[in-house]
Amino acid sequence: MASSSAQFSQGELSDTQFRRVAALLQEQFGIELPEHKRLSISIRLQAVYQATGGLSFDAFFAERLGQWPDMAVLSELIDKASTNHTYFWREPEHFKLFATVVLPELERRFRMERDLRIWCAAAATGEEPVTLSLLTMEYFQCKGGWRTGVLATDISASALAHARAGVWESQNVLRLPVELRRHFESSGPSQMKLRAKAAAELTWRRLNLVARAYPFRQKMHVVFCRNVLIYFDKDTTEAVLQRIHDVLVPGGWLFISHSETIGRDSVFEYVQPGVYRRRTA
Ligand SMILES: C[S@@+](CC[C@H](N)C(=O)[O-])C[C@H]1O[C@@H](n2cnc3c(N)ncnc32)[C@H](O)[C@@H]1O
Repeated sequence: MASSSAQFSQGELSDTQFRRVAALLQEQFGIELPEHKRLSISIRLQAVYQATGGLSFDAFFAERLGQWPDMAVLSELIDKASTNHTYFWREPEHFKLFATVVLPELERRFRMERDLRIWCAAAATGEEPVTLSLLTMEYFQCKGGWRTGVLATDISASALAHARAGVWESQNVLRLPVELRRHFESSGPSQMKLRAKAAAELTWRRLNLVARAYPFRQKMHVVFCRNVLIYFDKDTTEAVLQRIHDVLVPGGWLFISHSETIGRDSVFEYVQPGVYRRRTA
């Protein structure tokens, strides 16, 4: 009896089709598509094709992924192409700096406006923006009249759906310092759910970092954009960094990963590994 993958091999993308999909994902989202993802991408594209009906697969491919690519179809493929790996309290020095240096500094500088905007730009399944939000809540809880919130964005709809649901494995949540864990409640034998009050502090949106412009009316005070620039080529990284720079207030903070660096001649001022600021002048 033929295995399901052998049966499927008829519908697997040809070399040319696979290279075309890889080139489109690279161009539109900066995401590299390795060969080992060919089968999962092929299965997803077949599912999209079957939902549309009508044309043959090759005709569908030529129409939707040819000269005028259909962004809705490409968006369906991102979840299979992107790496959403993350966990609570990843690279903790950044969170400690955020709570002990960044928030107090912003509180002093913006005490008249009493309004702080924090953007987590590669939120994946939500652990990082939730942590930022909880630290911000804790910090401002006894300082009345502040408006704070965390905007969490990612390109992956499935990662965002996971994040919005607000449920993570208990083992993962237990990585957080104990004072932050009280914002979770039990949700089944091995899962924990973010309590409604804390969940209300977060806004989840889909946003492509490779898009020409970011749709914000007001500037950000802090941007976390960790462990995503490594997937982009040099030109894409520079363009993304320039756009992030442009949406930060002067002196605003940028966090990237410890394993990512920004050149010394960049528009940002270096603070410590993975931490930069928009120059004030
Ligand atoms: C490895 S995760 C990083 C998660 C988290 N920032 C961390 O450091 O743990 C990378 C995330 O970047 C997202 N991503 C990749 N390309 C993107 C793009 N063009 N625009 C927005 N998000 C993107 C992926 O969907 C994925 O969720």
